[in-house]
Amino acid sequence: MRATAVAPANIAFIKYWGRKDAALRIPSNASLSMNLSSCTTTTTVEFSRTIEKDSVSLGFTPLEEKRILGHIDRIRKLTGTTDRVTVATKNSFPKSAGVASSASGFAALTVAAASALGLRLSQKELTRLARLGSGSACRSIPDGFVKWEGEFAYSLYPPDYWDLRDILVIVENSAKNVSSSAGHTAAHTSPYFEKRVQEVPTRILRLESALRTKNFQNLGEVMEEDCLDMHHVMQTQNPPLYYWNDKTKELMEAVKAWRKSGLPVYFTIDAGPNVHLICEGKFEGDVLKAVKDVQNVQEVIVNKPARGAHII
Ligand code: PMV
Repeated sequence: MRATAVAPANIAFIKYWGRKDAALRIPSNASLSMNLSSCTTTTTVEFSRTIEKDSVSLGFTPLEEKRILGHIDRIRKLTGTTDRVTVATKNSFPKSAGVASSASGFAALTVAAASALGLRLSQKELTRLARLGSGSACRSIPDGFVKWEGEFAYSLYPPDYWDLRDILVIVENSAKNVSSSAGHTAAHTSPYFEKRVQEVPTRILRLESALRTKNFQNLGEVMEEDCLDMHHVMQTQNPPLYYWNDKTKELMEAVKAWRKSGLPVYFTIDAGPNVHLICEGKFEGDVLKAVKDVQNVQEVIVNKPARGAHII
């Protein structure tokens, strides 16, 4: 009754922001992401009659612990077991890095817990279950480049389809002050929310076409456009969410300048100040060299496309 799973975080090229159904975490719009090779969570789950009390390894806030055990309860209900659980989890990246650890965390938790309880779920069913823990977690289950629409997520291309990089520049490593969960709930209060939701299907088509033809410029342009649009919604919702700091803005400007000088690199930013630099593998060295000139960067994490959650 014990299993260990590893799952990657993912970076969305077209973002998920806002929900049609809050309790079920059904998104208002489809999203498309790439799994990250160097940002993973490894989780061991053990169920046993002899364990006296449910427990989660150290380092989580009481709120996070409640959410993890709530997800375990959801999975326990599928089998009817009353066995207690021990959950031990660790990230390959600093939790304080503000990387979306909830995606890798809930994907690894779902796959490990389902396996420990002997549940035979298809990948599709696993994505639905992970989504109930954390929306973006469903995109960390299938391999490589992943699309999430409605209840399920599925792989569009395997990791080796396109040698892209996500060079993650950590500019601040304190924990974020507003959770994305609270942010999704208020997204519709932005006057620009509906407009973005209407725009996304066309962006998804543009991104899918860029992926199909491996047109990096088209991929970069639509990705940056959607990132800025999502942050526009965040900044105009009530209460407003402003995730950028001075370094974030400096990097956004730097990326534009690097592009002008001929380096094909684009940025995207999630619910935090850190900047993801997306480029093709052959430009990794040039981008890393350019980032070296930016002062006060805390850490740089180089990610390749990765497979989804799996048992180890
Ligand atoms: O799954 P959540 O609630 O952590 O939401 C993730 C939201 C963004 O990271 C901002 C966008 C995305 O699609 O990953």
